[in-house]
Amino acid sequence: MSASSKFSVSSSTGSYDVEIASGLYRQFMAQGQKLIAICDERFAGDFEKAGVKAIALKSEETVKSLDAIPAVITQLRKLGTTRDTLLLAVGGGIVQDVSAFCAAIYMRGLEWMYMPTTLLGMADSCIGGKSSINVGEYKNIVGTFNPPRRVLIDPAFTKTLNAEQIAAGMIEAAKICYCRGLDSWNAYMANNPSATMSEAGFAGVVATSLAAKKWFIETDEFDKGERLLLNFGHTFGHAIEGASQFRVSHGIAVGVGMLCALELEQRMGTKYDAKPHVAMMRKHIEALLALVTDLPASLEGVTAPGLFDRFSSDKKHKADGYRVVVVAADGNVQLKALPKNDESRTHLTAAMEQVLTTIRTKTNCAAA
Ligand SMILES: NC(=O)c1ccc[n+]([C@@H]2O[C@H](COP(=O)([O-])OP(=O)(O)OC[C@H]3O[C@@H](n4cnc5c(N)ncnc54)[C@H](O)[C@@H]3O)[C@@H](O)[C@H]2O)c1
Ligand SMILES: [Zn+2]
Repeated sequence: MSASSKFSVSSSTGSYDVEIASGLYRQFMAQGQKLIAICDERFAGDFEKAGVKAIALKSEETVKSLDAIPAVITQLRKLGTTRDTLLLAVGGGIVQDVSAFCAAIYMRGLEWMYMPTTLLGMADSCIGGKSSINVGEYKNIVGTFNPPRRVLIDPAFTKTLNAEQIAAGMIEAAKICYCRGLDSWNAYMANNPSATMSEAGFAGVVATSLAAKKWFIETDEFDKGERLLLNFGHTFGHAIEGASQFRVSHGIAVGVGMLCALELEQRMGTKYDAKPHVAMMRKHIEALLALVTDLPASLEGVTAPGLFDRFSSDKKHKADGYRVVVVAADGNVQLKALPKNDESRTHLTAAMEQVLTTIRTKTNCAAA
């Protein structure tokens, strides 16, 4: 896989280009762009040097809360942002969510572009056009559909990511490719994904993941059908993020959530023996989670009944039942409706309990 590629994504507001190449960030900053940026605070110095006006954000979940948005809007106004301003977002999913949300509402809408700096941002969130903002304890409960005008992915940013950040991005990439089907999963595994890949290796994982995600978002931009399958691991994952007071980061919580979904379905009688790629996916996710050595500590105080309470208040459920993405016996993901009764509650709680116990006791999984 070459370290450089380009493709476009079509959306209801037009199509946008996505470029993947090492060095894009340096090249772009050297051009002295006329724009206003929202960046992760770790890159604030680069904008100062380049003379680009920037709002620096600390990438913490509290920063993408509805309460924190007025301060960003006020700063945009003070920096002189008008409806013609191009807004540039440089950072991970948190900077992206805040920027996309502000771009959608500031003066009823600004054009924006995005340079993801985390593997999760590169392999997942940078395309699809969603912004998700937390309100109080409710994660991602409000948001907009507002795709960027352009996405520039520079795999050089992966050099400074730690093992947890790499694992988080890889988990989302594995999830997307798995959800797309066996060919896509095999293409993902053909990259030999590991935490110690080269920049070109990460570029390959990103390209494979985005090719799979492109299909979902072009087929179902507004999350009404196929795209809902990408919530694999997320209903449990959001509960885990919240219950741990966000000590467990998003991608890692999704990995734990994928294990919960597998455990749930097995408890309900599904056997995967004829589909070895299910076991391969599970092993890969477990190996990625094993890179997060402080995961048991981050889960301290998290209980299965507490997780169930959060799980049951997720926005994706319907009045008549829980909705959860599971892996069916044929190995494909599917959206499952579970009635809101004692039996479902027992299965869900037991699945969460099992996964929590396994993580707490298994400290030495094989490296990814
Ligand atoms: N809108 C979407 O479609 C979408 C999709 C998936 C996830 N998300 C959201 O994204 C958020 C998670 O984002 P994330 O995992 O990309 O990271 P993040 O934005 O939460 O940042 C995580 C940490 O990485 C640091 N960081 C960023 N770039 C770095 C770099 N190059 N080197 C070293 N450290 C760096 C940040 O400073 C921060 O400390 C969650 O809030 C999740 O809900 C949104
Ligand atoms: Zn996610």
